[in-house]
Amino acid sequence: MKQTVNLFRRRFFVQAGAGLLASAGLPGWVRAMEGMAGMPKMQPNKASSDFHPDVEIDLVCKPAAVQILPGQPTAVQQYFAQLRKGPANTLAVLPGSYLGPVMRFEKGQKIRINLHNQLDEPSITHWHGLHVPAKMDGHPLYAIDKGQTYVYEFEMLNRAGMNIYHPHPHDATASQVYHGLAGAMLVNDREERRLELPGGEYEVPIVIQDRQFDHNNQLVYAGHMRDRMLGFYGDRILVNGLPDFHLDLASRAYRFRVLNGSTARIYKLAWDDNSPITVIGTDGGLLEAPVHKPYVMLAPGERLDVWADFSGRKVGSQFVMRSRSFSGVLPGMAERMMTMGGRHAQGMHGMHGMALPVGGDFPILSIRVTRQGHDSPPLPNKLAVIDRYRLRDVANPDRPVPIAISERPMSMLLNGRPYAYNDVQPGERIPFNTVQLMEIFHAAGDGHGMSGMRGGMGGGMGMMMSMAHPIHLHGQSFQILSRTVGMNGNDHYASVREGFVDDGWKDTVLVMPGERIKIIKPFQDFKGLYMYHCHNLEHEDMGMMRDFSVE
Ligand code: C2O
Ligand code: CU
Ligand code: CU
Repeated sequence: MKQTVNLFRRRFFVQAGAGLLASAGLPGWVRAMEGMAGMPKMQPNKASSDFHPDVEIDLVCKPAAVQILPGQPTAVQQYFAQLRKGPANTLAVLPGSYLGPVMRFEKGQKIRINLHNQLDEPSITHWHGLHVPAKMDGHPLYAIDKGQTYVYEFEMLNRAGMNIYHPHPHDATASQVYHGLAGAMLVNDREERRLELPGGEYEVPIVIQDRQFDHNNQLVYAGHMRDRMLGFYGDRILVNGLPDFHLDLASRAYRFRVLNGSTARIYKLAWDDNSPITVIGTDGGLLEAPVHKPYVMLAPGERLDVWADFSGRKVGSQFVMRSRSFSGVLPGMAERMMTMGGRHAQGMHGMHGMALPVGGDFPILSIRVTRQGHDSPPLPNKLAVIDRYRLRDVANPDRPVPIAISERPMSMLLNGRPYAYNDVQPGERIPFNTVQLMEIFHAAGDGHGMSGMRGGMGGGMGMMMSMAHPIHLHGQSFQILSRTVGMNGNDHYASVREGFVDDGWKDTVLVMPGERIKIIKPFQDFKGLYMYHCHNLEHEDMGMMRDFSVE
């Protein structure tokens, strides 16, 4: 760990010296990493003899190579899974993909997963979206070394929905996810089954990621401080690990299970023929009723259940799902740099996002109707029952638990502090078995008034450190109570505002500059440490991550 710190520190000073970024003092993420020295070494959890699993899976993470682009295979890190016990449809490998197999569970199942780390670095796997005991949640505290095994045992308490499994070691989450370690996890239940939604070949996982390749087809990853500050942006879109993703479909309704598995990139998904996009579910499962949107925003860690209906479409017709243009998610100056491209930006050595600007308009995937579909199911007008929390259900109606985002050059913090183990503050202690009102906001108010970046990047143009952050909370899903925009309710905001689907269960919420978001979240069933962090994974690794202690 010390070595890594020194390496990063050296890089940081080299860049600062080059005038790319200049700031006094040590950045928060360096302090955050040094804080990890205090992380105790835990014994990896072992199988318990009184747990009788319905499903048992061996899950290995290790270096591998896959053919992504023509020519040389790409070195990746990859999950491989083997079913030891349970229904045959539990695991579905995505052909040709570095992504882990799609896991499918049923609510109520008892699940054991034996994680074997065969990477040359510590790792631990987190089940993003699942409500499991703290020890089964993949907290960085439990990271295991090469050759070790961590045994997870839990009951599936979640309702039907799409979740994610991905690594969560401190300071290496982004890099491990970027290099391939991620997978989709579907949960089914009775309420969902009654709806007879499209299944089998008519239910399609869509994992959207951006990557950058060098001339030898190898992945290029964040080498610059700026990539950590703004997030790393690739110049190629991959869906399910494949470039130029295309589907040949029947003229009928499909269920697209969409997941943003990018480390930083935010998408604004829309159909290219401008027909509305129909959403039937979000992070925590089905909505009460379908919603139709001109476009939907999808930030890293978020999921969407999309009803894609091609019934009545002619064989031969084509569709493209695009990411449409929007602005305001990056500090103004960086955004201009990223969209400008070409000459001006060349000085911004390594400004990778250029070929695919953040907030640009580009295709995600293409579809061709190649055959007649039969008995296309109708879109149900009622989907699921959601018990809505009200203010009277919360333990703290007048004192929301704050999640304050502070953005400064070189440090992205939550509640004023970078991640450190054993650093739970009074405001981060949550009484067990309560429902809490929480408020996520930018600590400096409306995203204005932060000091501009001095030195090379801002060039005196007063770069405001104000960004969008997808804030994720571990444990049970939450409901969004309100979203209010301050002074920044401007053109930028207008380019995204219709794209939020806030009426279902969520575990990750995109917080735009200037926004304040109130959520209601239960903390039931399990005590212990549950993280909250930015799901811009570069930010997370910079220290924009904290623990709640449920006690
Ligand atoms: Cu998807 Cu704590 O992460
Ligand atoms: Cu999570
Ligand atoms: Cu962030």
